[in-house]
Amino acid sequence: MQDKSFWNANWAAWEEDFNPSPFAQKALKLMTVKGGHDVLDLGCGKGRNSLFFASNGFNVTAMDISDEALGVVDRLKHPKITTVCADVSKQDLGIEKYDAVFACLSLHYFNDTVTRQIIDKIYKALRAGGIFFIRCKSVKDRFYGIGEQIAPDMFFDDLIRHFFRPEYMREILSDFENVAVSETEEDYFGPCAFVDGIALKASA
Ligand SMILES: C[S@@+](CC[C@H](N)C(=O)[O-])C[C@H]1O[C@@H](n2cnc3c(N)ncnc32)[C@H](O)[C@@H]1O
Repeated sequence: MQDKSFWNANWAAWEEDFNPSPFAQKALKLMTVKGGHDVLDLGCGKGRNSLFFASNGFNVTAMDISDEALGVVDRLKHPKITTVCADVSKQDLGIEKYDAVFACLSLHYFNDTVTRQIIDKIYKALRAGGIFFIRCKSVKDRFYGIGEQIAPDMFFDDLIRHFFRPEYMREILSDFENVAVSETEEDYFGPCAFVDGIALKASA
């Protein structure tokens, strides 16, 4: 995976864009129907989705490895957003703290073992009936196969990327009660192909 200095350098160079992802718009609809207050935006970057959730009434923990990106979130001074600078692969996410966890393009940098450890922490961090949204790059993405292959569906080019298949997404979410997996295409710094997962933890 990439370290903090890599992400700080990237975020220093990227434009700020506070338009929420369409995936966040979809998530908000489901979160609103389900109720609850507390959302963890994992790998939030400069906070486009955190800001959107907070502006719609949710308490947001905006977590990222990059303090450069989180500096922008802090400058927004939204009363419903708390920032946490942490590496999700090492950070304790707590037990039953959140009604929703949202991870948009932040969990496709880790090998299979670490990915499963993070999903397990997310499962435990969700309250009963909580909902998990995860979007990762797909094996159909234009960057798939570029660079040195370091593991199945993992390549190192300018950064390490772990590309997802729908069946892999289903498998890593198998502890959840209900799982919906879909393939999507969208522009994010160019045309991209994603695998999206929406997973519901069983109610108590
Ligand atoms: C492609 S960006 C997506 C940002 C944001 N979720 C969005 O949709 O705009 C990936 C984000 O994951 C963060 N990230 C990468 N590795 C991380 C790690 N180990 N722990 C926490 N955040 C990480 C990066 O700093 C970056 O902000």
